[in-house]
Amino acid sequence: MAGGDALDLAPVVRNFLDLGDAGGDAIAAMLADAQDRKAARAGWPKGKPDADAPLAGYVLGMIFEKNSTRTRVSFDIGMRQLGGSALILDSGTSQLGRGESIADTARVLSRMVDAIMIRTDDHAKAEELAHHASVPVINGLTDRSHPCQIVADLLTMVEHGKALPGLELAWLGDGNNVLHSILEAAGIFKFNVRVGVPKGYEPEMEFVELARNGGSQVTITHDAEEAARGADIIVTDTWVSMGQDHAHNKIAAMAPFQVGGKLMTLAKPDAKFLHCLPAHVGDEVTEEVFESSQSVVFDEAENRIHAQKSILLWSLGLLGG
Ligand code: CP
Ligand code: NVA
Repeated sequence: MAGGDALDLAPVVRNFLDLGDAGGDAIAAMLADAQDRKAARAGWPKGKPDADAPLAGYVLGMIFEKNSTRTRVSFDIGMRQLGGSALILDSGTSQLGRGESIADTARVLSRMVDAIMIRTDDHAKAEELAHHASVPVINGLTDRSHPCQIVADLLTMVEHGKALPGLELAWLGDGNNVLHSILEAAGIFKFNVRVGVPKGYEPEMEFVELARNGGSQVTITHDAEEAARGADIIVTDTWVSMGQDHAHNKIAAMAPFQVGGKLMTLAKPDAKFLHCLPAHVGDEVTEEVFESSQSVVFDEAENRIHAQKSILLWSLGLLGG
């Protein structure tokens, strides 16, 4: 090795457990890269690698302890488009499901793959995995947060002509993991969030404070119409997240927060409707709104691929400084 310092060759390891791990400059770089890559491959077959194939030879290991359609397929196709590949370990067929420790799993996978994505229940498991891994760990959803989803959501808002600073976003429904990451994004990009939730289902105050400390105005209201009035973006999610009980009292409490035609008319005329999916049409959103021209949920779903490619590149030190 000619005059080289071995440390110069050490791979970059950037975990993406929450949006704050990357910060505003890196997420802005991700959004720009995602738009460029998406435009450059318009009309191509979905699995054809991008012209530069920046992750040729790289492998992503994906751990799933919960169900997934979008996260699973978008990471797999995203890796193919970057020139690499992905494999899946699910709890039913891997030793993780039989009690092998997170620490040992992290150390073994770090010898075999170049990055790890984990979807699990307890956020502490993702943190423990990152602690013991020597390759980047990406949060593909925990009970606490869903940062990859929100990079795709930001991309979708920007693509639909919304400037993030000062934007008014209304959240209707459960104060859950997706809302937590929206609040984190609000603090980073200085947009405002009107959270319309039933009493007892508010988001964790830690995320509200994170948003406010970043300069976002956050209003928590128990009045759905107050939340929706004047909004640029209306967002909802399932009333019952994975791992939660389908409790009848929760469903009853959520009913006034269903996104329907009347709520949409209170928002700005050019407001867009977002939902991370899977949707329960007839519960958190009416069919009328879900199928309307204001609904951009399938752009949002596609953008999981484009957003995650940029997250992967950032995590591996190939984007954003
Ligand atoms: N939105 C989202 O994360 O979808 P999946 O649960 O299908 O991955
Ligand atoms: N809040 C939902 C999001 C699914 C993508 C859940 O955790 O089940």
